[in-house]
Amino acid sequence: MRRDELKEKDGKDGSKAYIAYKGKVYDVTGSPKWAGGVHMARHTAGRDLSDTLKMAPHGEEVLERVSSVGQLEDSGPVPGADSKHALRLLYRKLHPHPLAIHFPLGIFTFSALMLGVFLLFGGPSFELASFYALLSALVFTPPAVLAGMFSWWVNYDMASTRIFINKLGGSVVVMALAMAAVFLRLIRPEIAYGGSGLSTLYLALVFGILPTVFFIAYNGGKLTWPDS
Ligand code: HEM
Ligand code: HEM
Repeated sequence: MRRDELKEKDGKDGSKAYIAYKGKVYDVTGSPKWAGGVHMARHTAGRDLSDTLKMAPHGEEVLERVSSVGQLEDSGPVPGADSKHALRLLYRKLHPHPLAIHFPLGIFTFSALMLGVFLLFGGPSFELASFYALLSALVFTPPAVLAGMFSWWVNYDMASTRIFINKLGGSVVVMALAMAAVFLRLIRPEIAYGGSGLSTLYLALVFGILPTVFFIAYNGGKLTWPDS
């Protein structure tokens, strides 16, 4: 089977679900673990998953449970057949996404915490700390999102599964909320002091970022700490 033929066997719209591993093609159509051609909400059929199995909690033995349907024709050292291999190895060494995400996660939380302290006890320095934290968190979010998208591309072939849709959608929402809050605070520096509908909106934005960013992180944790 050629790679372009394999690509069509993605298990969608009633087609068969085939996966390739180390030059062999396997039929996973009947497996409940590959329903609709999607495995553990992150891998999709119709692909060569040779490099990806290393990230799984199981080894090659699972392939004995499904039937082999032939060889992948151009599975030899075809130039450009898997141009991402080197990037994948580099990604696993540097893991930029798990590194970068701590900044927005921690700093958005700090921003909400400082705003909470300000609302409870007053003190302009707490409000200012909250705003500066909000600004910094907003600056650190795009690198985290880009690193995540890079991993999505290099490690998951941009599989459009629920986890990634949640993460991408959540990232857009977080950035929109943070930009709106920064904008409001810039045009109305006294906004956190209350007294208007806009003030309530500002508080809702800063506190609303937290559940959204935790939702994204929860979906990320599902990728790195899979349950069975
Ligand atoms: C991080 C990614 C992965 C996770 C979390 C994962 C998880 C699992 C789990 C929990 C099972 C069921 C095990 C059992 O019944 O004892 C399973 C089965 C299986 N996995 Fe994965 N897996 C991953 C990646 C892969 C990859 C990359 C491949 C392909 C090379 C693969 C191929 C299979 C196959 C063929 C089965 C057996 C299906 C069956 O028994 O019907 N998995 N996987
Ligand atoms: C502000 C936005 C984001 C946050 C806070 C976030 C958070 C996280 C967290 C906490 C993990 C688990 C890390 C670990 O267990 O060490 C993770 C993993 C992951 N996330 Fe995100 N994420 C974000 C955006 C994205 C986006 C937009 C994508 C791509 C669509 C993405 C793709 C991934 C992938 C592929 C992993 C698995 C680990 C890896 O490949 O490095 N993330 N994320």
